[in-house]
Amino acid sequence: MSEKRRIIVTSALPYANGDIHLGHLVEYIQTDFWVRFQKLRGNDCVYVCADDTHGTPVMIRARKEGVKPEDLIARTHAIHLKDFSDFEISFDNYYTTNSPENKELSELFFAAMEKSGGITRKSAPQLWCERCGMFLPDRFVKGVCPKCGAENQYGDSCDKCGSTYAAEELGRPVCTTCGATPIVKDEEHLYFELEPQHEFLREWITGHTTSDVSNKLLEWFSEPLRGWCISRSAPYFGFKIPGTNDKYFYVWVDAPIGYLASLKNWCSAHGERFEDWWQNPKSERYHFIGKDIIRFHCLFWPGMLNVAGFAQPNKIFVHGFLTVNGEKMSKSKGTFVNARTYLENLPAAALRYYYAAKLGGTADDMDLNLADFVQRVNSDLVGKITNIASRGGQMLQKRLEGRLGSLDEEGRALVEKCRAASETIAKFYEDRRFNQVVVEVCRLADAANEYFDRREPWKTVKTDAEATRTTLTAALNAFRILAIYLKPILPVYAEKAMKLFGEAEWTWNSIFSARENCALGVYEYLASRIETKQVDAMIAQATVKPADSGEVAHESRASKNKEELAEHSSAIKSGSAIKSGSAIKSGSADAPVVPLKPEIAFPEFEKLDLRVGVVESCETVPKSSKLLKFVLDAGSLGKRTIFSGIRGAYPEPEKLVGREVVFVANLAPRKMSVGVSEGMILFAGEPGACGGVLSPADAAGAGTPVT
Ligand code: 2FM
Ligand code: ZN
Repeated sequence: MSEKRRIIVTSALPYANGDIHLGHLVEYIQTDFWVRFQKLRGNDCVYVCADDTHGTPVMIRARKEGVKPEDLIARTHAIHLKDFSDFEISFDNYYTTNSPENKELSELFFAAMEKSGGITRKSAPQLWCERCGMFLPDRFVKGVCPKCGAENQYGDSCDKCGSTYAAEELGRPVCTTCGATPIVKDEEHLYFELEPQHEFLREWITGHTTSDVSNKLLEWFSEPLRGWCISRSAPYFGFKIPGTNDKYFYVWVDAPIGYLASLKNWCSAHGERFEDWWQNPKSERYHFIGKDIIRFHCLFWPGMLNVAGFAQPNKIFVHGFLTVNGEKMSKSKGTFVNARTYLENLPAAALRYYYAAKLGGTADDMDLNLADFVQRVNSDLVGKITNIASRGGQMLQKRLEGRLGSLDEEGRALVEKCRAASETIAKFYEDRRFNQVVVEVCRLADAANEYFDRREPWKTVKTDAEATRTTLTAALNAFRILAIYLKPILPVYAEKAMKLFGEAEWTWNSIFSARENCALGVYEYLASRIETKQVDAMIAQATVKPADSGEVAHESRASKNKEELAEHSSAIKSGSAIKSGSAIKSGSADAPVVPLKPEIAFPEFEKLDLRVGVVESCETVPKSSKLLKFVLDAGSLGKRTIFSGIRGAYPEPEKLVGREVVFVANLAPRKMSVGVSEGMILFAGEPGACGGVLSPADAAGAGTPVT
């Protein structure tokens, strides 16, 4: 057994002035997978987080509500924690940045930054609202864009033309809090200079992020690094900067320090020394963040840690944004869904499973396609994985006194097959390729179901109780291993499964034991099917009338991508190339439930050269009950002979003559016993029961696998 690792993990601290939504959950859920995996492997892993409480938005909201900011953040803290725990996200410490530990650490960091000579003081013009008596942060002032003239734009960037500027450049500025016209006033601020750390930071980036992220970041280093303004003027909710009268640390200064403060607070509560954790050279430290806050974690934060003499994180794990049905989340479309709204309609485990199935450890955006979500949960989690336990467990209880027997040779082989995937799956977890974990588990579930069906226990139970017990023992032991593999993703599910097997604790190594000749617990449901109507209800509940949504009309990158694809999807003409998959519609909610294969990236799809051909002849193949021999007229490509295993679905093959079919034209020719097949025709239908040749008229059956 390798040495126990000591690992500190964080997720970005959510702001205390808003609700947790499905976009946030992409991060907390994946961090939770990773942390739970580390713990299951026996490592010492601590997951710390906190509410990010400081800043103007919290202050303004508290003012509006007529409460103290401290009361507001206490209320939000409780709500956030409940949301997280209902999503089975388990922090070792969920703290607040408004804590004594954080104040002390922030002052310590600042002293070190001053001592290093990194703090400078500069005057700069700022917008000041006389009526509110405050300098206006960018998002508290609106006016006319200095570049394109669009009205009603915030003080940092224009939603219409995308340009960025300083708030004082806005035309006809108004304070968004009181409506007064602000004036420009000079104000001294404190800056943290990064240029002295130019070389250190450049090197740091290469080793601490994945190459897709670091390549982008290195672009900053072609010029001197600009100083970062770390102060905000009163009134501000935050920590006062020592040695100033009315200056506070900008929220982004004490937010990352909040990671350390939360860890420190955890250490005190557990009789541990902070130095043995964060500062321990043997410790590993990882931050999970979204790609919008890279600058803070890969520039300012390592710069601060460096001058203050704190250990650096080993890696920053960056993920992308969430889109829903291929578009930016939208309040008016009901796709901007809060954690609580989701939970009022659907089970947490379903989202955890779906996110796992989609997360590949990169900074690419991730889509929650709601039809695919329903389908995958029902077909894979419920219909494929859980099915083994529910069929096996219930039969064993009802017909065989609930007692497991022994594994026979075939059963042992099935169990061994499941065990053999252990290190592959562990590596996928370690690399945060959770989608591959799900693929592996589904592959093994297929093997277990295939075994179950082949042994036909529902028949043998009438004639041979002991043979049936042997079958069910193997299927249930295979399921048990899969449930252990899934424990980081589905902790509550795994806990119930563990009880079913009468066990008290599962570690990763529990896969090496088997449950034989003992009683099985009472089968209680592990996961139930979800319905499209639950999703519809959630969307209806989340829909905000456009007037109330506060959304500015703009196109998301995701929706632009979609348009680009649509443009490329040329009409399907004889022998012409098809550039995109628009002819093959994605699953509709009421399509038969058949598991989707693992997602592929667009470049992989683009490798397929899909063409249209006309069926010139189609005939049965002697001695084959499965094959049909097609000759296609493929336009400029000439004639193609293709063998397809779909005879069962087409008793009258001659009727296919004259039909247009889509086929993969660049598949390497395959030598078969009956001849060479020069491509693959795409058909729609369930395996073994084909629906029809895909043509525009047949496309209504889409969403089922293309076989
Ligand atoms: O972007 C955000 O939501 C910030 N509240 C994240 C802070 S992460 C950390 F640095 F504290
Ligand atoms: Zn004002």
